[in-house]
Order: sequence, then structure tokens, then C-alpha cells
Amino acid sequence: MRIQAAWYFSIRLKRRFGAANGFCNSRDKAPARIAALAWNTPMSFALLGLIDPLLRNVQDLNYQTPTPVQVKAIPAVLGGRDVMAAAQTGTGKTAGFALPLLQRLVQHGPAVSSNRARVLVLVPTRELAEQVLQSFIDYGKGLDLRFLAAYGGVSINPQMMKLRKGVDVLVATPGRLLDLNRQNAVQLDQVQTLVLDEADRMLDLGFARELNAVFAALPVRRQTLLFSATFTDDIRAMAAGILRDPVNISVSPPNATASKIRQWVVTVDKKNKPDLFMHLVAGNNWRHALVFVKTRNGVDYLAAMLDAAGYAVDTIHGDKPQPARLRALERFKTGEVQMLVATDVAARGLDIDDLPLVINVDLPIVAQDYVHRIGRTGRAGASGVAVSLVCADEAPQLAAIEALIRQTLRREEEPGFEAEHRVPQTSATGEIIRKPKKPKKSKVPQAAPREMQVLSKKPHPQRGENKPKLAAQRAVAVGKDTSPVSGSPFSVQKPRSKAAGKPVAGSRKPAGKPAGGRGKRQS
Ligand SMILES: Nc1ncnc2c1ncn2[C@@H]1O[C@H](COP(=O)(O)OP(=O)(O)OP(=O)(O)O)[C@@H](O)[C@H]1O
Ligand SMILES: [Mg+2]
Repeated sequence: MRIQAAWYFSIRLKRRFGAANGFCNSRDKAPARIAALAWNTPMSFALLGLIDPLLRNVQDLNYQTPTPVQVKAIPAVLGGRDVMAAAQTGTGKTAGFALPLLQRLVQHGPAVSSNRARVLVLVPTRELAEQVLQSFIDYGKGLDLRFLAAYGGVSINPQMMKLRKGVDVLVATPGRLLDLNRQNAVQLDQVQTLVLDEADRMLDLGFARELNAVFAALPVRRQTLLFSATFTDDIRAMAAGILRDPVNISVSPPNATASKIRQWVVTVDKKNKPDLFMHLVAGNNWRHALVFVKTRNGVDYLAAMLDAAGYAVDTIHGDKPQPARLRALERFKTGEVQMLVATDVAARGLDIDDLPLVINVDLPIVAQDYVHRIGRTGRAGASGVAVSLVCADEAPQLAAIEALIRQTLRREEEPGFEAEHRVPQTSATGEIIRKPKKPKKSKVPQAAPREMQVLSKKPHPQRGENKPKLAAQRAVAVGKDTSPVSGSPFSVQKPRSKAAGKPVAGSRKPAGKPAGGRGKRQS
């Protein structure tokens, strides 16, 4: 508790006083004030046993005190133990494994041979591979070590060239790693440590085939580290099979969302989501947000709407060429782009400084992804906001999310966008609580009074008022006709789920279990 408080305190100081006081620019030399602050704190990186070059680097990054997961993970990893670490999003898990591994690389083992790697870090997405590589470069500045990120969607040749001399740390997505392995560009027999970042995602069915092949190529005797903000019981059971006498680290309740994120849902009919989204963005003057949408079409559709309304917007999804994806993320990080619209490919691990807001236009299929999506805000002790637009057929997903995070999310309705298909009440136990059915109407036809017949044919009066401008914007943006929902990936209201009253598991299926899988993996 003391450690956590000290960490948040130092982060708040960094944010509050900014560059003028030497806290902001991570490349600046830390002023004496910071050293004094670190000295006063109950735990320091030095006490964790890190060597001088690493201590200098964390000081240059203005890390005053280690975070709770770092306090527990760094000594365990330094001691060569296997580790399974669960800690909330944005709490510094990367440094929790990278710092001690860098130290081990410097202090132990033979120099790396050609076409080999000593530490292998597997990640689920290409963007995360680049980010984790950058973390190793920052934390390992000045050390005589070689690093490489290998992922698909870009030419394999430069990666093969860099592997010729061998690398100390290889950060990779599984598909490209196996391509490189098949072409003899990298052998895994010298890997001392395997890290699965976003471990529950790496161990789920989507990556099962690749992971099995990677495990077969790795030495049996190795250190294995699993890090994530979420672990299901299935994944924990499975992890037991790949870890040797692990140190189990859990610094918060399982699957908890980051503590400083204010989150709520707005209920709405599916077909009205795009208009409600634009209405909320304009009405709340939201100027910097990461927007999640289930499908690639949905991403392009909302991006076109935002673009037509004058926002600087870019997108990330699986259909986009990799250089354009990386550029979009970079432009968003630098502030050149205000709104980044993405599929779940951007849900895991990405660290965007001071992002204030995440909007889920669709709920994720897998409950854990909610924790990760909203965890792009509220990082490193900062506050954040997460808003989700929820329609009736997403009630099972909402129930699964609430069961996972053990809280019922506050619901709001936006005047003019009230849902005609009511979203059934849900509970933090994962149940969908249906209202008792209304008694059936008599089959004998009864003539309705004339005014009522007329009223029942009218569109929703308030919603109608909000629509014309937005619908026209969208039509211009996507080059479709002017029908309010024409071409919208949000236009179909599926029949409601039959899962009423049943607890919703909300679990992602681990590899090896029969299940419906999930989207295509990265390579
Ligand atoms: N000890 C520290 N003091 C201050 N900032 C830190 C410290 N450790 C890490 N950070 C910063 O906190 C942010 C989050 O770190 P990181 O990306 O490693 O989080 P994470 O736990 O891996 O999150 P996620 O679950 O989303 O992957 C980064 O900007 C990082 O630079
Ligand atoms: Mg991470």
C-alpha cells in the first residue's frame, strides 16, 4: 500500500510540474530533487538489486519508485525464477520483466551466437512488438546488447539480416517468428528466458498452433515469465503446465480495471450508435480519444463520419498495411491525430501518454478485452474515462464484463437516443435479469382510437430531431445515399439473446479446449 501510494505520488508530481521542473522530458537528466525524492521513498530501484547502468536509465526516465508489480517481479526474475504476474493495466509490467532480464543478460551466460536469441518476448500485436522493443532500448541504454522486433506485414529480409549476428532480446509476434525459424534465420535453442507479454491472450486458442510450434523449438530448461492484467482460471490452470515452481504475483484483485478510470455505459439502439457517438463527441467536446469498434467496416465508417465533421482522425485495423498502422499510432501519440478508431488489435498493451478517454462503440466479444481496451487510459497513476455504447443484443457481453470486473457499470441514457429495444438489467454475478413479460394482449382485434394509431406510426420525435444533420454528414463521408442508416455496419438489430437468466461465463477459451476461437492472429 505504501509503495503504491509513493508511486502514484511521484507520477502526480511528474505530471503536475512538467518539464519546467525536470519531470516531463523522459530523456532529461533527473535533477537533484528527484534523487532526493527517490531517497525518501520506502522502496527504490537500488534496493531491488539493479545495477548502476539500469538505475541511471530509470532515473533518466524519471521513474522515482518502482511500482508494486516491479517490487515483486524484479527480484524474482533476477533470481532466475519462473513468474506469473497479474497487475492492472498501465502499472509498469514491461519494466517488471525488462529491467531484471537486461541485468541477467549482462551478468550471465555466453555471448549470443549467430542466428540465435537469448531472451524471447512474444506479444500478440505488431504495434506492441515495436513498443516493447523500444522499452528494452530505453531501459537498456548504454549496455552492450542487441535487440530486434520481428513481426509480419513488413519485409522479412531486414529482420533476417539483423538476426545473422544474433540478438540478445528478440521481441516477436508468433507467426513471423515461426517464418524466420523455418527459414533458418533464427534458432531458439539458446533462449534462456521466454516472456509471454499479454500472456492470457498468447495462451488462448487464437495462437495455440503457433505457440505449440514455438514451445517445441525452445529448450526445456529455461526461465518462463507470464505477464498480463487478466488471467482466467482456465489460463491459470494451463500456465501451471508450462511454469516450473513459479512465483505467483497478484497485486490487485484478479482482472480488475485500472483504479482511476471512471467508467459507465450509455444504452442505445444499435442502429443509432453512430449518431449517438457523434452527438456525445460534439456535445462533450471530446478532443482526444481512442475509439473501439468491433469490425473493420465499422472502424472505417466511424472514421469517415469523424473526418466529415472536421476531426483529425486515423484508423488501425487488420486490413491496413502495417506501415500505415504504425504511422496512425505515432500520429495519435504525438497529437497530430485527435481520434484513433481501431479494432481490438489496439486493445492490448499500447502505452499512449496521458490519453484521457476510451470510447467503446461496440462491446468486445471477449470480456477480458474490455479491461485491456479501457486500460489504454488511466495509466501510470493518471485518471481516465471509459464510455461504452451498449445495445440490447450486447446484454450477454455486458453481463460477462460485469462478472469479470466484479462491478455493475453505471447506466445512462442520452435524451433523444433512448433505446426502443431496452437493454435488460445485468448484475455483477453475470446474470441477465429480464423483466417479467407483459401479459399477452387479447387476440380479439380492438379498434384503437384514431389519435393513437397516428402516434404509433410516428418516428421517435426527439431522435428524429437529432438525426438529419448527422445522417447527411455520414452520407457525404461514406459516399452513400442519404437514407439515415444506409450502408451502416450498425444497422442490423439482431434478435435478442436467449441467454436470459443464465450466468454468462465471459471467458476466453484457452488453447487446447474445444471452443469457438477469436479473430485471426497477428503474424
Ligand atoms: N516505476 C515507474 N515510475 C513511473 N512510471 C513508470 C514506472 N514504471 C513504468 N512506468 C510508466 O508507466 C506506463 C505504463 O507502463 P507499461 O506499459 O509497462 O504498463 P503495463 O502494466 O504493461 O500495462 P498494460 O497491461 O496495458 O500492458 C509507461 O508509460 C511507463 O513508462
Ligand atoms: Mg504491458
